[in-house]
Amino acid sequence: MGSLDIAKVRAAFPSLRTGYIYADNAGGSQTAQQVIDNITHYLGNTNVQLGASYSVGVQSTQRVTDGSVAASLLFNAASVDEVGYGPSSTMVFENMARALDDDVHPGDEFIITGEHEANNGPWKRLAQRRGAIVKYWRTVAVDEGNPYSFTYKTEDLVSLVSPKTRIVAITACSNILGSIYPIQDIVRALRQRATQVGARKVEVAVDCVAYAPHRRIDVREWDIDYCVFALYKMYGAHNAAFYIRATALQSSLKSIVHDFLAVNSSQKIQLGGPGYELVHAASGVVSYLLSLTPENNLDATFTAIAQHEQSLLRPLLSFLTDKQQYDRGVRLVGTSTIDLSRVPTVSFVVTGRRAMKSKDIVAEFDKERHIGIRYGHFYAYGLVVNAAPKLDPDDGVVRISLVHYNTVEEVERIVGVLRRVCA
Ligand SMILES: Cc1ncc(COP(=O)(O)O)c(C=O)c1O
Repeated sequence: MGSLDIAKVRAAFPSLRTGYIYADNAGGSQTAQQVIDNITHYLGNTNVQLGASYSVGVQSTQRVTDGSVAASLLFNAASVDEVGYGPSSTMVFENMARALDDDVHPGDEFIITGEHEANNGPWKRLAQRRGAIVKYWRTVAVDEGNPYSFTYKTEDLVSLVSPKTRIVAITACSNILGSIYPIQDIVRALRQRATQVGARKVEVAVDCVAYAPHRRIDVREWDIDYCVFALYKMYGAHNAAFYIRATALQSSLKSIVHDFLAVNSSQKIQLGGPGYELVHAASGVVSYLLSLTPENNLDATFTAIAQHEQSLLRPLLSFLTDKQQYDRGVRLVGTSTIDLSRVPTVSFVVTGRRAMKSKDIVAEFDKERHIGIRYGHFYAYGLVVNAAPKLDPDDGVVRISLVHYNTVEEVERIVGVLRRVCA
């Protein structure tokens, strides 16, 4: 397996040339040159309506089709008919939920989490429209010394499954905790339980927005029905890709597009044209990822990315969890394990006698003028407001989120600022 050539990686991102330390990547990553080129080229040469028979129209249609092939590769979907694009992950989940209106019945149960509201709100609204019941899979703290060492236990999810369970909406990676959840194992356990209790029909919706930049998605191996990620968090442009399993397209979702259009594919929830230049841009993300390792396949790329990201995680987590910082009141929000069950999205709060507001810590970083980090609840509102001791949702947590183009030297500079601010 090849390892990442960081100089080559960084050269692929024009914005990194300034030396600015981008450490708010879970909010949005930088854009690869290939993506920028695709957008420019599309708009400069083939910006016409799809489906026409004239030569430029044929070319334009082909470029957008290439974007669908890119999405099917990134999801590892069985067919391009199962994937599509929308303006944002939030909008796409909402469209899915609207299309499910006729296949949800009063008394059905949904299980959701406290993670990003994009994969909660649409199900809460669907439940309200259809008289369904919402249940919550809550986090537990796993480290006695840290009330914010949150994780989710699969057995807690399984215990929520009943004969009425209809939708389970979960996340593959938390945008605050940085934990990766073993979706394949979780889904296997919950489907087993659903069969035991005689659930009529359980469908699983997975938010992969915080996962996709770090690991390979595999909707088939995971055995899931709905999946979404945002391109702007994975080196692309501002749009989102979605997957809907063929069986769900046929038997669960009604079409919410113009009623005279007979569609049976993912276009059922794709209202209007999905920014063609942005769909074409997504194939630039795949080209970029494939260029990172000599094997020229996505598995090798993501293995190399994960390996490099571990080297970023180590110095940051080691600093935040050392005894001196613990005694100072620094508490990691999430687990402290340094292994592949975690991505380098690291959140913390400073508590105790000399507590500090997250906002004030970030303000110290802003003064440096060359490092971007952020504070807040990051729309994982349920997770933050249900924390005990309470966390102020307006102040939330300090989050440092890195990706494979960050370097160990950058992390050392971040730790240097933290050392001074938390002294
Ligand atoms: C985990 C997670 N899910 C969903 C979203 C929403 O994505 P979008 O901006 O594409 O609606 C975000 C954005 O921060 C996120 O981090």
